[in-house]
Amino acid sequence: MKYRVGICQFQPQLMVPDLNRLRLNRFLSGLQADLIVLPELTVSGYVFQNREEVEKVAEDARQGPTAILFRQLAKLNNTSYVLGFVESQSDRIYNSAMLVNPDGQIHIYRKTHLFLEEKNWFTPGDSGLQVFPAKDGVKIGLMICFDWIFPEAARTLALKGAQIIAHPANLVLPWCQKAMLIRSLENRVFTLTANRIGHERNGDRELSFTGMSQITGIQGEIIKRLGNRGEKVFITEIDPEEALDKKVTPRNDILQDRRPELYL
Ligand code: ACM
Repeated sequence: MKYRVGICQFQPQLMVPDLNRLRLNRFLSGLQADLIVLPELTVSGYVFQNREEVEKVAEDARQGPTAILFRQLAKLNNTSYVLGFVESQSDRIYNSAMLVNPDGQIHIYRKTHLFLEEKNWFTPGDSGLQVFPAKDGVKIGLMICFDWIFPEAARTLALKGAQIIAHPANLVLPWCQKAMLIRSLENRVFTLTANRIGHERNGDRELSFTGMSQITGIQGEIIKRLGNRGEKVFITEIDPEEALDKKVTPRNDILQDRRPELYL
């Protein structure tokens, strides 16, 4: 099966979601793919100073302006999208990702493992690690940024049948890109890590993001890694059915050979 997948490396302007949506709309228009992954907190930026700022950019997962835009784009371009956003849900705020399909369906994942100051304003995700169908029924596992450091996240998604792990990110530590090669290898899945770039300053808070968004294959190989500068969309063709074969030798199936009764 041929499946066109893409990573979108982007630099949002902090707290200017309308402008970021406008720029993304232009950036993605006319791009033909089956699945494109965008960064964590794609339209809001990342370096908040307090919860009040986060509340200003929080939105409803299905009726908010980002969901409305990406539902339109998904239909128009016949493409599934995964992107991170600030989700408001009654009095709670989550660091979430949405999978938006061409038929208008939206699936939500709420980040399980919060990073550093995120713990000051986001509620830890309660959705669990989930696998959802994207365009043509391909099974997509969702995780967000710092989930990478917990091998259980990718393993759970593989056990639930993910063929591709979609991984929106705002990476600041230097190790994730390397680690995701191993997440691919040990689970025999494709991964699409879409990272942001640039430097963000807000009062006394300041972070630089590492770019190097990447696509990895089921043997832990780098199919594509972008540089650490420049906004870019890269699209290539993969065969997600490769990820259904979990045999690493004729007698070793990496999921069936597990011995969970000995692990704790
Ligand atoms: C991160 O989880 N945004 C580092």
